[in-house]
Amino acid sequence: MLKLGVNIDHVATLRESRYRGQGSGEPCPVKAALTCEAAGAHGITAHLREDKRHIQDHDVKALRRKINTRLNFEMAITAEIVRFALKLRPDIVCLVPEKRQEVTTEGGLEVSRKLNPIKQVCSQMLKANIGVSLFIDPDIQQIDAAAKTGAQFIELHTGSFAEHFNNARTRQRELNRLTAAATHAHSLGLRVNAGHGLNYENLKSLLEVPHLEELNIGHSIISRSVETGLSKAVKEMLRLMKGYRY
Ligand code: PXP
Repeated sequence: MLKLGVNIDHVATLRESRYRGQGSGEPCPVKAALTCEAAGAHGITAHLREDKRHIQDHDVKALRRKINTRLNFEMAITAEIVRFALKLRPDIVCLVPEKRQEVTTEGGLEVSRKLNPIKQVCSQMLKANIGVSLFIDPDIQQIDAAAKTGAQFIELHTGSFAEHFNNARTRQRELNRLTAAATHAHSLGLRVNAGHGLNYENLKSLLEVPHLEELNIGHSIISRSVETGLSKAVKEMLRLMKGYRY
């Protein structure tokens, strides 16, 4: 069965836009994670960025304590975050590239160029019984390099597919790239996840890609929850305002 990991970073982005630095506030990523689990999600994904722009250290620690499914901890390869991950002990880490200026993770890891540091982090994680996934573009050279690192999983970056979805020709080109990448990775013994930019419109096409085990989806699910929950939220506020007597 294809599994769903819900990325809850966007919940923290909304909280931080109002309560930055206060250590609490709404919406709460942990509550959101528990709601996702109760709805059937198979795992929770969170990215503790170096600039701590959304998810905070305390969020990830609370997620580790409270969720009952799998914690997929997205992280850059820096000494500080590696130390944090080894203490946190998520079920799996997904190594991602990170640039401070980017709005969200923009490209996949350059595994072939950073083979040694990636190998080293994989070995540290695997020794601690933490699974490892590498977030990479659907590129055969990156997959060949990923197979040399010790990581069990790759997560195929579906951002380009999502970006080119509205044009039939480029959509098919991106689907072909993802299919070739998944097929090649599978033939090398790598397990295959995918994520980034997946939404309620483009998902059906993506399901043509073989060997997928888990999709990590954030923005579209959190956005949909705002749209579907807004009416209830407004009604609840109006009910409270009804008590006004002046
Ligand atoms: N997978 C990875 C590695 C990511 O960096 C992100 C974005 O944070 C996602 C999945 C989820 O992307 P989206 O929020 O566009 O669904």
